[in-house]
Amino acid sequence: MKRIVLMLLIFFSCSRNETPDSHELHRPYFHFTPPSGWMNDPNGLVYHNGVYHLFYQHYPDSTVWGPMHWGHAISKNLVNWEHLPIALYPDSLGYIFSGSAVVDEKNTSGLQKGSIPPLVALFTYDKQGFETQGLAFSNDDGLTWQKYDKNPVINNPGEKDFRDPKVFRHAETESWIMSLAVKDHIEFYRSKNLLQWEKTGEFGRTYGSHGGVWECPDLFPLTDVKTGITKWILLVSINPGGPNGGSATQYFIGKFDGQTFTCDDDSTVVRWLDYGPDNYAGVTWNNAPGNRRIFIGWMSNWNYGQLVPSRTWRSAMTVPRELGLTRTASGFSVYAQPVPELHALRRAEHQVQTGKAISFNGRAELDLSFDLSVEGEPQVEFQNSKNEVLRIGFDRTSNRFYIDRSKSGTTNFSDKFSGISYASRLADLQQVKMHLIVDVASVELFADDGLTCMTAIFFPTENFNRFIVPVKNSSMVTGTWFELEKDN
Ligand code: FRU
Repeated sequence: MKRIVLMLLIFFSCSRNETPDSHELHRPYFHFTPPSGWMNDPNGLVYHNGVYHLFYQHYPDSTVWGPMHWGHAISKNLVNWEHLPIALYPDSLGYIFSGSAVVDEKNTSGLQKGSIPPLVALFTYDKQGFETQGLAFSNDDGLTWQKYDKNPVINNPGEKDFRDPKVFRHAETESWIMSLAVKDHIEFYRSKNLLQWEKTGEFGRTYGSHGGVWECPDLFPLTDVKTGITKWILLVSINPGGPNGGSATQYFIGKFDGQTFTCDDDSTVVRWLDYGPDNYAGVTWNNAPGNRRIFIGWMSNWNYGQLVPSRTWRSAMTVPRELGLTRTASGFSVYAQPVPELHALRRAEHQVQTGKAISFNGRAELDLSFDLSVEGEPQVEFQNSKNEVLRIGFDRTSNRFYIDRSKSGTTNFSDKFSGISYASRLADLQQVKMHLIVDVASVELFADDGLTCMTAIFFPTENFNRFIVPVKNSSMVTGTWFELEKDN
């Protein structure tokens, strides 16, 4: 009997992980995923005492969305993540929706108990669609959390969609500023103590894209290193209404005067932080060292996020990206680059040879540069032995980058998944640069030094194990690629 039980135990533990030493199908290696269950938006991003905290929308009991918790993980290098116990559980005021966290250095909230400053989280309570803003705090550097006993700290003024507070410290006015998404616009609130909030302004009812509800705002300054000019950037996720269907994140460039945001562009201008279908609800870390603006997004789309064919968990985050501001021929623009910490994943470096299948293990970083004065189509294809293929390239006639996942493996879980995504090119140089990060089930394209980004997930039935740059005239392409591997 004992023997049978033991055999059954071994069988079940092996079948859960495929084979003992293999990796679950579709589970990325270096992108953050929850240990099991459902995940959506990143929340509470804050750097404190050498540690990056990543909280996230989480339903541990199922692989579809449900009563929202805040899952929690930490990292010292943005590459290796350690899972911590769930930080916030739903309670009688509702599910715990998205929000942010700050370090209350001066104990403005009065919530400090011992000798170290409290971490304070502001989040949305959602009770069957009725939304208020709640507060929780930690007096042990973010390890354990307690809800404020006078929650909510902001009541609902009669709005259905009233959520996702992103708070930061505004040094000039010595106050806390909150950006809040309210249906079709962003509202700004101010506080001296994180507990009492007054509304100071709003932005956006007639600006940008309004194909869907506005969610998950983030407001921060970025400085163009070349000119020294600083602009305020307002990120706004919208769902649906993205450039390739479903969820996506737009941004605005302008000014913030301590009370409200004003946009430099005409109201009709729409800018996308990422044109791909799978980068949503992303926000940036508060207090990142060296004034860096580090972003992470949910690498999925509400169109099909709950249907994707991963088994024990659902969805990953994008790689952490550093945002910057640069001036192009058509004015300022935000660009994104994978954080340099990810170089730690690089193993062997190789030259890319064109027209020849190159073997790899499903994880790679490619840095390709295509010369448009030479004839041919800038393109790279990822393939496996099942004839599944993922194509990424630049269409010179329409001046657009594309990701074609129509034959990339399992696509039939949603009729909104398959197909080709496009992104207009913003740069106008003769060299088209395509920097790609591939990790089993996702590709992130940073084109033209991150001026145009595209992120897409895919589900080959067997990992892609070779790629090819099918360009006839090899003088068109220069490039290197790295094998990527994570130390455990
Ligand atoms: C965005 C979002 C947020 C909300 C959360 C709920 O993906 O809809 O607006 O707070 O997800 O899980």
